Amino acid sequence: MAILITGGTGYIGSHTSVEFLNAGYEVIIVDNLSNSKVEVLDKIKQITGKEVKFYEADLLDRVAVEQIFSENQIEAVIHFAGLKAVGESVTIPLRYYHNNITGTLILCEVMSKYNCKKMVFSSSATVYGMHNAVPFVENMPLSATNPYGSTKLMIENILNDLYVSDNEWSISLLRYFNPIGAHISGLIGEAPNGIPNNLLPYVAGVATGKLEKLKVYGDDYDTVDGTGVRDYIHVEDLAAGHLCAYSYVMQHTGVEAVNLGTGKGYSVLQVVKAFEKASGKTVRYEISPRRAGDIASCYASTEKAERLFGWQATRDLDKMCEDSWRFTSKVNS
Ligand code: NAD
Ligand code: UFG
Repeated sequence: MAILITGGTGYIGSHTSVEFLNAGYEVIIVDNLSNSKVEVLDKIKQITGKEVKFYEADLLDRVAVEQIFSENQIEAVIHFAGLKAVGESVTIPLRYYHNNITGTLILCEVMSKYNCKKMVFSSSATVYGMHNAVPFVENMPLSATNPYGSTKLMIENILNDLYVSDNEWSISLLRYFNPIGAHISGLIGEAPNGIPNNLLPYVAGVATGKLEKLKVYGDDYDTVDGTGVRDYIHVEDLAAGHLCAYSYVMQHTGVEAVNLGTGKGYSVLQVVKAFEKASGKTVRYEISPRRAGDIASCYASTEKAERLFGWQATRDLDKMCEDSWRFTSKVNS
């Protein structure tokens, strides 16, 4: 039996593939390479010494998805494939709705047909919206403020409805906080195309000299130093969380939303400082106006992940920055 990892050549998917391979599972990756490179497969092999079966296919292509299920015995799906840029989702919403939602619908229909009813889904802390108080707890009211967030919220609802219609399903909705860092080997990490939107890749770009200076979006929030606070989580801790979620769905039925975060928040300026320490470089920055749609603070309650999965993040911010820097330095050398 194999585990199918959709979006497995992407940032989080590649680290999770490594985690499953190292734990002895047979892994199959499907990805359309719209936001990742095929070379990632060689890196996964270098790290693990193991082969991964790869299908270059789009989840929107039902025939291709059926082929994967007909050619393999798949016991569970770890579903990462999706478009994820918040700003872009405002510009091209239909593409986001179609790719993320239709892709998931086709995947679920094919899974049902092949009697594979175990799924771990990549949701996001963005579903907590703008009005909850931190720490975010899984049973808080949910809302979305942009098309990307709406796709996550809608997919959570779809998967809940799917379970109501068929109680054999077992689904874990993992709400990630802010994944950063890279594999300790420096071989895989986050390498966004073009100018990065997210804090860490931007900071790394400034440290290498590729970008001139960071714009810090707002210093008048009600936080430790006025800059935005987020729950940064090492991507390797996140990958480990998927293995725990997989074990859980294999032993239970039902739908559970679970936060994957550290429970600790760091401000933009604290991240800049930690990155300077890890890299030995100066990260130039200037204070800019707030970015539309940002909230002051976002961090997780980690109680449910600990209780259900026995999982806890173990790597601290310094380690996240060290590993990010190792990967960035390798890519740029
Ligand atoms: P990523 O873009 O690196 O990986 C996603 C992968 O999915 C890419 O390799 C892309 O080529 C592939 N893909 C997209 N649409 C596809 C389709 N229709 N068919 C086949 N493959 C397709 O992103 P990531 O950071 O690894 O995120 C993985 C998942 O986690 C996404 O669903 C994302 O929304 C979610 N998430 C990410 C973050 C984050 O900050 N990185 C936070 C919360 C949730
Ligand atoms: N920030 C800057 N300058 C930048 C980029 C970011 O000051 O150039 C600040 C932001 O204002 C925020 C913090 O750094 O305070 C983190 O911003 P990111 O863009 O890295 O991350 P977000 O918390 O805005 O969003 C991320 C993902 C979303 C996901 C959300 C919740 O990008 O997909 O976390 O999980 F929905």
